[in-house]
Amino acid sequence: MAKVIVTRAIPGPAMQQLVERHDVSVWPGELAPAAEQLRELVASADGLLCTSADRIDEQLLDAAPRLRAIATYAVGSDNIDLAAAAARAIPVGVTPDVLTDATADIAIGLLLSVARRLREAEAAVRAGKWGPWTPQAWLGADLNGARLLIVGAGRIGRATARRAQAFGMEIAFAGRDDDLPSLLADADVVSLHTPLTPATERMIDRAALAAMKRGAILINTGRGRLVDQEGLREALVSGQLGGAGLDVTDPEPLPADAPLLQAPNLVVLPHIGSATHATREGMTRLAVANLLAALDGQPMPHPAPAPVSASHA
Ligand code: GLV
Repeated sequence: MAKVIVTRAIPGPAMQQLVERHDVSVWPGELAPAAEQLRELVASADGLLCTSADRIDEQLLDAAPRLRAIATYAVGSDNIDLAAAAARAIPVGVTPDVLTDATADIAIGLLLSVARRLREAEAAVRAGKWGPWTPQAWLGADLNGARLLIVGAGRIGRATARRAQAFGMEIAFAGRDDDLPSLLADADVVSLHTPLTPATERMIDRAALAAMKRGAILINTGRGRLVDQEGLREALVSGQLGGAGLDVTDPEPLPADAPLLQAPNLVVLPHIGSATHATREGMTRLAVANLLAALDGQPMPHPAPAPVSASHA
């Protein structure tokens, strides 16, 4: 029986399989354990089931001499030092596919909210500011015929594209070898779906924001650090961007007094891309399968991608 640390209570029947086979301790807090608490937890652990809010760096791995399996409850593995784990022969597993549709739904939900000003309009109703119907009130942008640039043509990017096609949008994809500024200049909407790596960190910087079409909309359901957030705030305030919808920010949680939240035409969600009952149960199934396999000395069924560096990401 191996000792397994689970850093947050997670839903779904698959947890039972883990509990039946191993000595499992689940961190009881709603918040992530602090770095020092996590180091103490892993000191005698053989397996770790963590979330994207847990930082798994060299220091943590050094504090976990027995660790032989890390399963993250996410498809993104940017919170884990994959090279350091590989150097210690610790396999890392992720939860792909099961969260693709739910996350793509949120990308489209954000796009509709921003383009059609749903957040502002709904807030006006609640604030007693619902005046008489007038032809010029609450005008937004059409999706039909608008050009959507999907940055990152992976599973979630492609699923978002399929949904956008049904809205009549014209789709373009930006991969890692494409000339991003010229693609940005052509797009009415840019949606980010690329993993966070040293090469993609702040890929949407001030220059990229300036390269976008004036009045374009930015959607980010990937990772907050893909975007220069202060640059984004300025672009929204100046009107260079017409709006933005974010399911991810830097940091998370974003403090309620963050200057970004004062920017116009901005919708921010608290990282709920995968937050459906079935999706989260599916993520539990995959994370548990990864842990059980590795603790049995078998390859993980859903391994994290190989570590990337800035030079070849
Ligand atoms: C969520 O952000 C994930 O990477 O699954």
